Amino acid sequence: MNVRAKITAAAIKARKGKGPRILALTAYDYFTAHLADQAGMDIVLVGDSLAMVVLGYENTLPVSVFEMLHHTRAAARGNRHCLLIADMPFLSYHLSDEQALKNAGRFVQRGGAGAVKLEGGEKMAPRAERIVAAGIPVLGHIGFTPQDILSLGGWKVAGKRPAAARRLVADARALEAAGVFAVVLECVPAALAAEITAEIKVPTIGIGAGPDCDGQILVSHDLLGLQDKVSPRFVKRYADLGGTILSAFKEWADDVRSGRFPGPEHCY
Ligand code: KIV
Repeated sequence: MNVRAKITAAAIKARKGKGPRILALTAYDYFTAHLADQAGMDIVLVGDSLAMVVLGYENTLPVSVFEMLHHTRAAARGNRHCLLIADMPFLSYHLSDEQALKNAGRFVQRGGAGAVKLEGGEKMAPRAERIVAAGIPVLGHIGFTPQDILSLGGWKVAGKRPAAARRLVADARALEAAGVFAVVLECVPAALAAEITAEIKVPTIGIGAGPDCDGQILVSHDLLGLQDKVSPRFVKRYADLGGTILSAFKEWADDVRSGRFPGPEHCY
């Protein structure tokens, strides 16, 4: 009998300083969420990275709340035990507290999410606080924030200079004070991530932020070798599913062309 209980945002927060390390992967559909759940992840994130790895956009900006909801619902159907977190896409929480709360509510009420994630530190902390006050757990996200790609001018390691490092520490503290249950640190020097992790009382979940965070997250398509457009240094590939799928498709095409498929065993 499987007695693993459903993981809550409060349970993730309580792991701070105690371990075990928090395990989080992205999933955008029923099947992947089901496998992540079976593999014992703590968190399934329906990340807005889906814009790039599933929908083929150049960055995360074009994906809408309704597209994110569609994928959140699919992932929710595959998930049993993990905390399911929906990423709030670009401009879905920037206009006002009211807009942010309404959209966060959609992910919980209609998407089946147990929490939402939003990008931004000090500036976004009041918005995160408003959502938390309504009873919706929020995961913060600082460091490199992909929704700022246009103003940043590209993919960058965050907090490399002393002033930027101090701002990141302040961002993490502001989010903690706003009541987030954990903070994602993306593309942050390992030493700075370790300092932030020691500084705040909620868990940090790193992606390109070194080994000292309280947990790790990766985009599942990167880990599985399902996309080859970008290959950041922080990704470790555990499979080449893109290559496996391509060979299978080619083999099937060869079999059809040569008449080997369908064989007698595939016929009625
Ligand atoms: O959208 C996403 O997948 C993310 C993770 C990389 C943290 O935000």
